[in-house]
Amino acid sequence: MLLGTQRVNERNHLEIGGCDAVELAAEFGTPLYVVDEALIRQNCLAYKQAFQREYGDSAVAYAGKAFIVRAVCALMAKLDMWLDVASAGELYTALKGNFPPQRMLFHGNYKTQQELQMAVDHGVGYVVVDSFVELDQLSATAQAAGRVQPILIRCNPGVDPHTHRLISTGKEDSKFGFNIKDGSAMAAVKRALELPGVDLQGIHCHIGSQLLDLTPYTEAAPVMTSFLKQIRDETGVELPVLDMGGGLGIRYLEEHHPPTIDELAKSLSAALLDGIAKAGLTKPRLFVEPGRSIVGEAGTTLYTVGPVKEVSIPEPPGKRVYVSVDGGLSDNPRPALYDALYSALVANKAGDEPKFDYTVSGRHCETDMLIPHIKLPRVETGDILAVQSTGAYNYSMASNYNRFTRPAVVFVYDGKADLVVRRETLDDLLKCDLLPDRLA
Ligand code: LLP
Repeated sequence: MLLGTQRVNERNHLEIGGCDAVELAAEFGTPLYVVDEALIRQNCLAYKQAFQREYGDSAVAYAGKAFIVRAVCALMAKLDMWLDVASAGELYTALKGNFPPQRMLFHGNYKTQQELQMAVDHGVGYVVVDSFVELDQLSATAQAAGRVQPILIRCNPGVDPHTHRLISTGKEDSKFGFNIKDGSAMAAVKRALELPGVDLQGIHCHIGSQLLDLTPYTEAAPVMTSFLKQIRDETGVELPVLDMGGGLGIRYLEEHHPPTIDELAKSLSAALLDGIAKAGLTKPRLFVEPGRSIVGEAGTTLYTVGPVKEVSIPEPPGKRVYVSVDGGLSDNPRPALYDALYSALVANKAGDEPKFDYTVSGRHCETDMLIPHIKLPRVETGDILAVQSTGAYNYSMASNYNRFTRPAVVFVYDGKADLVVRRETLDDLLKCDLLPDRLA
């Protein structure tokens, strides 16, 4: 499987963004996150054009939690995107990446007082309010600053997205948002309309992530448009914004066939426009918040292969060949967390036939399996393994487990490679450590 600008070059090496992956590994070291900038640009454009065409007045907010560093924010700013941030750290990164706060949405089920203050002080576009406590706190914070903060109310439409239970967020039993069915969402809307420090502009939902089927969207759409109608009927207010969140799945394996961005835009827009017409509403401005489907397939992690070890296994009886790579759990926790599956190529033998069975594991003090079963060409120590579709929720969820230093990140574009995050050093690992006198 080749994604985005990936191709096999004349040297039988994997090439991404016009750069030879084996040369990237030599120049920047491994593990290395390589990001295909052209594919990110293409995905942003596809989202914007598809929703403009299918729905009309709309905006696309990239969900920063998938992968946020200054260069990503600067790229999103250049592409005229909106940005979803979910913490002071993400907001700060975005500000330092020259992203205009007016085009940010601030999310989270527990925003601290410091975060609410930051959002108000910087004039964040919308705070997406998740609880009654936050509603009162935000109104008071904005009032004290002499401002009125535009907000959306996060609603829970009670839709089952049929994805991994840990990334399914819009079901009724969820810590996120206000439940529409039990009346909490309407109570929040009414409370927001009374509070002087907030300006209620719309409603929001996010049903889940890595969705490989569009049904959850078309189920959530009428719930949200009916709720907009109910708000108008009960309060006389027609809200101008409707945010349907993110969630579109990506291709991790050759056999994955996620809906395309165009298909999502068509189905979701049709369902929303139908609901809007039936309710006799003025069409609200539509927001969507894709994260994974913007950056996921654009990321490839390069590793150097260490020991290749054949072991006899009892169940089923036979042999397993472990390929150890110089990263693992700390740069990609998703296999351990969600049983996530990945594809890979041997970057220095990219066109060779994958005919041998391997298990790829990391080098942490854990079972640390990155890819339980994969067919690859013959793998030898020193080869460069390229694990694909690692652009989302890899760097952003990376850790220093076992005191591993976090990898560097390189953007590749049109034959040029730019370092956008340098590799951590051993001293970086110590930068927050303190030794009390008693122990010095
Ligand atoms: N909007 C909100 C409010 C969200 O909570 C999320 C993701 C998104 C948008 C973007 O969703 P996406 O388009 O990326 O599916 N760590 C997990 C994924 C957690 C998703 C959390 N929320 C993973 O690695 O699969």
